[in-house]
Amino acid sequence: MMLDNADLAQQARALDANDPISSICDHFEQPEGWIFFDANSVGPAPKTARAAAANLIDEWVDLRRRGWSERDWVDMPALLGDRIAPMIGAGSGEVVVCDSTTVNLFKAGGHALTANRDRTTIVTQAENFPTDLHVLQGFEKFCDRPLTIRYVDTEDEAVAAMDEDVALGSFSHVGYKSGIRWDMERVNGAAHDRGALVLWDVSHSAGTVPIDARGSKADYIVGCGYKYLSTGPGGPAFIYVRPDLADRAWPPMCGWMGHSDIYAFSGDYQPHAGIKRFISGTPMVGANSIARCAAEIYGQYRPADIWARHRSLSEFFILTIETLCGPLGVEVTSPRDYDRRGGHVSFRAPGAGSVVEALIDAKVVSSFRKPDSIRFGISPTALTHVDIHESVQRLRHILKTEAWKDPKYADVSV
Ligand SMILES: Cc1ncc(COP(=O)(O)O)c(C=O)c1O
Repeated sequence: MMLDNADLAQQARALDANDPISSICDHFEQPEGWIFFDANSVGPAPKTARAAAANLIDEWVDLRRRGWSERDWVDMPALLGDRIAPMIGAGSGEVVVCDSTTVNLFKAGGHALTANRDRTTIVTQAENFPTDLHVLQGFEKFCDRPLTIRYVDTEDEAVAAMDEDVALGSFSHVGYKSGIRWDMERVNGAAHDRGALVLWDVSHSAGTVPIDARGSKADYIVGCGYKYLSTGPGGPAFIYVRPDLADRAWPPMCGWMGHSDIYAFSGDYQPHAGIKRFISGTPMVGANSIARCAAEIYGQYRPADIWARHRSLSEFFILTIETLCGPLGVEVTSPRDYDRRGGHVSFRAPGAGSVVEALIDAKVVSSFRKPDSIRFGISPTALTHVDIHESVQRLRHILKTEAWKDPKYADVSV
């Protein structure tokens, strides 16, 4: 049966009415009239974040250095890590929140190259995110032995590339452009059969789709906090290392906050056991205070419910955009199969970059990737099915009227 706009509107209302965790949206700021699809870049702001920022400044003014002993500033990387752990299928004491994703990629990748010291090949996706590739290319220059990076395009190629010389496979769980999700368990299994270690960047999946660090036997997982996990603009990232692997080598970035006894002020580095050795310097207390707000909200919900909500929203988005905008030249390029998608849905549209600019004037924020891809990051904590229907109607209007051809939309931002 062909659906029309009225059917979709009714379906959106019904899906929202039957959503068991629609209350999660009440925790996040929703500026009137705007619909944001940029959680794959900067996630929504928790309502508690303003008070948390003000409180931090009060503590700064009133406590100064006593904050280190009278507040949990030092413990925050581990406390926040425990909150995020269920979202990636990890246990308590297995994740820390710290630094940027780039820094954590370096720490995890460098650890793997030390643990697999007798091997010289790294396998990665040709289309991996630039910073992931740059970290590996840096290893090529920096390492004590000649390294070779093998670039692959598909999961099958990655599995086939695993041989006895591979020290490290470094992959994005979900492609930042394509939105394609790889099977972590399959790739980990193939790598482990040959003694290789695997590092996953879950920036485009954490907080949206199932990740099972333990079940998939992942070695290393890192990811951005500021996207779907709402740690705030430029907020801290996270790192997981398989507990029995963490102690096999020193991290490449040893620092006093990863020492086994930070208050001993010893001149000799002794790594902390487990994940805490991957903390290097002083925690970013300001950023962590904001990051804590969303982490506390996540703690109130079952990850499976958040994933189910994201699935429902993204499937409804695909149905709606294909029905309303397919005849206007829109083509969804993200996989149909839910198990192969991540946080965002990518599609092609005529005049894609200008369309994204025109959408901003229509109060819909998404993102453009050259040459013709539009990405809608589907936040399960801030969007409703009615928002999705409304935004696709605004998109349809822009395509139908060719409003995007207005010269004011020619200057495209990325
Ligand atoms: C997959 C992926 N990894 C890493 C990053 C960024 O890393 P960092 O926060 O260190 O800049 C991004 C940014 O969008 C990304 O998409």
